[in-house]
Amino acid sequence: MSDMSDAGFTGGRPAAPGDLSAGSAPPVAHSVSNNASTNARQPLGVVIDVAGSGSTIALDLKRLEECMGDADPSISISGQVGSQIKIRVGNSWLLASVRTQRQHAQSDGGNRIIAQVDFLGEGEEERLTGKIYGFRRGVTRYPVPGSYIYPSTSADLRQIYASDGRANITVGTVFPTRDIRAGLYIDALLGKHFALLGSTGTGKSTAASLILHRICELSPEGHVVMIDPHGEYMQAFGSIGQLLDVSNLQMPYWLMNFEEHCEVFLTASGVDRQVDADILAKCLLAARQRNRLSEQIGKITVDSPIPYLLSDLTNILQNEMGKLEKGTNSVPYMRIKTKVEEIKGDPRYQFMFSGMLVGDTMAEFLAKVFRLPSNGKPISIIDVSGVPSEITSTVVAVLSRLVFDYAIWARDEETRPVLLVCEEAHRYVPNEKNSDGSSVGRILSRIAKEGRKYGVSLGLITQRPSDLAEGVLSQCGTIIAMRLNNERDQAFVKAAMPEGARGFLDSLPALRNRECIICGEGVTIPVRASFDNLDEAKRPASADPSFADLWRESGGEEDSVIRTVQRWRAQGR
Ligand SMILES: Nc1ncnc2c1ncn2[C@@H]1O[C@H](COP(=O)(O)OP(=O)(O)OP(=O)(O)O)[C@@H](O)[C@H]1O
Ligand SMILES: [Mg+2]
Repeated sequence: MSDMSDAGFTGGRPAAPGDLSAGSAPPVAHSVSNNASTNARQPLGVVIDVAGSGSTIALDLKRLEECMGDADPSISISGQVGSQIKIRVGNSWLLASVRTQRQHAQSDGGNRIIAQVDFLGEGEEERLTGKIYGFRRGVTRYPVPGSYIYPSTSADLRQIYASDGRANITVGTVFPTRDIRAGLYIDALLGKHFALLGSTGTGKSTAASLILHRICELSPEGHVVMIDPHGEYMQAFGSIGQLLDVSNLQMPYWLMNFEEHCEVFLTASGVDRQVDADILAKCLLAARQRNRLSEQIGKITVDSPIPYLLSDLTNILQNEMGKLEKGTNSVPYMRIKTKVEEIKGDPRYQFMFSGMLVGDTMAEFLAKVFRLPSNGKPISIIDVSGVPSEITSTVVAVLSRLVFDYAIWARDEETRPVLLVCEEAHRYVPNEKNSDGSSVGRILSRIAKEGRKYGVSLGLITQRPSDLAEGVLSQCGTIIAMRLNNERDQAFVKAAMPEGARGFLDSLPALRNRECIICGEGVTIPVRASFDNLDEAKRPASADPSFADLWRESGGEEDSVIRTVQRWRAQGR
C-alpha cells in the first residue's frame, strides 16, 4: 500500500482546493456552483490502490467529522460505510460506495481511515455548473493512486439517479435524501424477472403492492397475475384488480396436464406409483378422447387440455378393471377410482372439480385470469388461501404453466407480455433440500430460465431467499432486498448480486423497515431507497395486529366464535 503522504495528502486538513491543482486532481472549486457547501469542494481523502472493481482509499478523519455536520444529508454521511463518494478522474467523476472502514494511526499522531470502495459508475462533469451528467454503470477510466476523493452531494445523487428517459415508476426516495426519487425502469425490471426479498415484517407485501400499483397506473392495459397464498392482496387491489378465490375462480380440472393429474389423483408411492401412473395415463387419454373436440383435432395426448367428464374417467377405470384377467391385481384401479370419487365429492375441491366445469371454458378462463383484455383491471389476484393445502401447489403449478404455455402458443400473435408474481416463492420453488419434487418448482424454474423469450416475467417474493432453488435468484435481473436478518440469506443474496453492489449489500442487516437496496437491471446503479408511504386503501391486509390495543377492548366475541365455527364447518369463506 502506498503511503498517503506521497500524494501530498497529510493527516491534517487537506490542501485548499487551489493547492490541489499541483496534484493529480484538477481544481474543482471553479466548476462547482457557488452555493455548494465548502465540504463538497474539499477532498475527503485519496486513492491508495486500485483493482478491477474497487479500490482502497484513505480518508481523513478530521474531514469526515467536518462533513458530518453538513446540512446536506448526503455529504454528512459521505465516507461512512454504505455511503457514496466520488473520485476525480480527469474531467469525469467515478462514483463508488464504501464497503468497509478501518482505522490507521499515523506516526505524527494524525488519524486516517482506510476504506474499501466498490466502483458503481461514472459520469462527465459539466464545466459550467459542475453537475455530473451522462452517468452510466461500469468503469472505463480508472483512477490512479493519489486521485482525490470527494463527498457526493445531494445534487450529485439527483443527477445520478435521474431517469434517463426510459419508462419508469418511482417507488421511494434515495437514501439519505428525502426528496430524490428512486425509480425502476419498467422494461428492464420486468424483462429479466425480479425478486423482492426481506425478513418477515420488513414490508415486502406492502412494497409489492406499491410497485404493482405504480406499474398498473403506468400500464392500465397490463397483464399481471398475482398468486396470493394468504389472501392479503384482495384488499389492496379492490378497484383495479380482478379478484379470484375459491368462490369464483372456477378453474377446470381438465386443464391439468398428466403430471398435475398424477399429483392430485395418485396416492401410492414407490413402485406402485409408476403402475398407477401408467393406468391413469391410459384411462385419462381415453376419457379425453370421448370429447367431440378431440375428434375435430385428431391426435391428442394425455396432456392436451381437452375437457372430459370425471364420471367418464371413473367408468373407464371400472371397465378396464372388468377386463382384467383373473388373478391380476385390480387394487391400482380401485385406488385411483376411489381418489377421483373422493375429490369429486369434497366441497373444498368444488372450485376446480365441480361438475359444472365440464364445458369448454378454456378461452374464457384464460381471458379472465390473464386480463385479455384487461377491461380496466390489469391485475388478477388469485387468492389460494382457501384451496385445500394438499393441492395448493398443484393449483399454483397449473396457473403458472398456463401462463407459460399460453405465451408459447401465442407466439404468432401480437405479444401480450404477462407478469406472474408469486408470494412466498420459497414454498413453490424450493431448493433441493426442501423440495418434494412437485411440478410447480419445475415450471417456475423453467419460467425463470426461459420465460423472458416468450414475454413471461416472473416476480418472486420471499422471506427465505436461501430456501429458493439454486439458480432461480441469479435468473432475476433485478433484486430488491429489504432487511435480511439471517446470515445465510444475506450470503445467498450477495452471491446473486453484481459485484458493484457489495458495498450496499453489507448494510442489508442494518436496513430499517421499508428500506431496501435495489440492484440489477431495473436501476442504473444500485440504490438504497426508502419506500413511499402507501395509502391505506392500497395496502395489503397484512397490518400487524396491535396486541396492546386489541387486548384492551372486548365485545361480540360469542357471535364471532359462532360465525367462525359455521364457516369452518361449511368450509366456505
Ligand atoms: N410502504 C409502506 N407504507 C405504509 N405502511 C407500510 C409500508 N411498508 C410496510 N408498512 C407496514 O408495515 C407492516 C408490515 O408490512 P408487510 O406486511 O408488507 O411486511 P412483510 O415483509 O410482507 O411481512 P411478512 O413476511 O410477514 O409477509 C404493515 O403493518 C404495513 O402496513
Ligand atoms: Mg408479506
